[in-house]
Amino acid sequence: MNDSVTSYAQHPYRTLARKECDTARMAAIARLHGLNAALPSASRVLEIGCGSGGNIIPLAERYPQSTFVGIDAEEAHIAEARRETGLLGITNVEWVCADLRRYNPGRGEWDYVLAHGVYSWVSADVQARLLALCRSALSAEGVALVSFNVLPGWRQRGAVRDIMRVGARLAGGLDGAERLQSALALLKLVGSVRKSASDSYGSYIRESVSRLSASDPSYLIHEFLADYNEPELFADFMQSAAREGLQFLSEAKISMMSADDLGPDVASVLRQLEGDIVAQEQVLDLCRNRAFRETMLCHDGLTLTRGLKAAVFESLTFRTTLRPQGAVEGGQAFTDLVSGRALTVPSGAAADVLAGLAGSGPFGATPGGLLGRIGAAAPQKVSHADVTSALVSLWRAGFVEAVCDGTPASSSAFAKALSIARLQAERALPATSFRHEALPVSAVERELLCAADGSFGRAGSVAAASKATGCALEQADAAYERLAQLGYFCAGSSERGG
Ligand SMILES: C[S@@+](CC[C@H](N)C(=O)[O-])C[C@H]1O[C@@H](n2cnc3c(N)ncnc32)[C@H](O)[C@@H]1O
Repeated sequence: MNDSVTSYAQHPYRTLARKECDTARMAAIARLHGLNAALPSASRVLEIGCGSGGNIIPLAERYPQSTFVGIDAEEAHIAEARRETGLLGITNVEWVCADLRRYNPGRGEWDYVLAHGVYSWVSADVQARLLALCRSALSAEGVALVSFNVLPGWRQRGAVRDIMRVGARLAGGLDGAERLQSALALLKLVGSVRKSASDSYGSYIRESVSRLSASDPSYLIHEFLADYNEPELFADFMQSAAREGLQFLSEAKISMMSADDLGPDVASVLRQLEGDIVAQEQVLDLCRNRAFRETMLCHDGLTLTRGLKAAVFESLTFRTTLRPQGAVEGGQAFTDLVSGRALTVPSGAAADVLAGLAGSGPFGATPGGLLGRIGAAAPQKVSHADVTSALVSLWRAGFVEAVCDGTPASSSAFAKALSIARLQAERALPATSFRHEALPVSAVERELLCAADGSFGRAGSVAAASKATGCALEQADAAYERLAQLGYFCAGSSERGG
């Protein structure tokens, strides 16, 4: 593509599953807004700027009857994606090496169009073409997801980028790793001379140093040293989208659309902007100092339901990664399996709903199923209305996610992981779950994933992983349980001692 030091040919980008791009989540959000979004298991999905394919390969594996196309201008990325699907025997993805400006996907043929990590990092003409491509590719009620960097959050990060770009130049030459080192060294130097506690610039730089030092080098190179990285206001992005015939459907991270934690003054401003969702969202970005968006778009002629469709709600599946830790004063303690974050939920419908969903396992339950589960545990406590309203609030707040057609099915008797997850585990990379999340895994979790091809029972896998890593059996069993709860296994996942 280009021969600059930040080119993808020199520094391939490692593409992993993006939770927000899970078509099961996108379908649920779209349906709740009144669209008749295609079932993920019978859909056509186009990913523009697919990199090495790590985002759509797990989707293609989960939905073998659906069709996927990934396009990317970088030959090395497409070659890697082709190698992976060849190795895994996945045949429902086509890989195309092309510049998106010259790519014709077929008008109106795509139920989902994904463009993650592309828009802010290409020139204005490519941006316009990307949006036009989304519009022309989308089926009548299709949904696109475009991610991009936004202001004002990126204003501050821009200072970090400025320092790092100067630092990279100081290194001279074309070696990307050396330039990145020099970039981080200059950032550290700037942070170290601005030590006063009241110096917000210095604090931000120092905080950035510690955050970025732990980041993937390919991300740092393409985010902070790239020639193009043009954040913009959300409202400006939406103007460009509207010019191409697209409207705002929703943010993929639903909790970012809630103003509940921002107090009555913000709520009052948002009320004045009732009916203008773009203006409301823009105000929220300013209040939150937001830096990144994963925005869902659809055709501009469609009528959307902003109040959420109740009938649709009943048909979706809800799930959570929060797990109960027991009663505490005034409520129930929960811990998030992914982040480790602890929280206390006051006793009442919300705590009951979370506990009920946690008990439903990694793939959750429908509202009806959940009601039955809570009712069986405490018949006097439940009312359908309370459960529904708690579920809606928890979903809006991001404690619960909604999916459509997202529960994996398998005919194998024993736990089976995605084959791409087993490959990733073998290579000590973050591994992808059936919940479309790529998380780092420990040595013992890697052993367990590698063995999860559907032919081993829990006890056998645990014993083998314990032996291979030298960890205690109980520790290996706890790792198995964690993987199961995070949705790494389908079928046999609750099987004990097989
Ligand atoms: C930062 S990577 C993101 C990859 C992946 N979507 C992800 O989120 O991990 C951006 C990708 O967009 C591709 N790209 C950039 N400009 C492009 C263009 N004009 N046409 C097609 N692909 C392009 C790059 O080659 C690269 O693989």
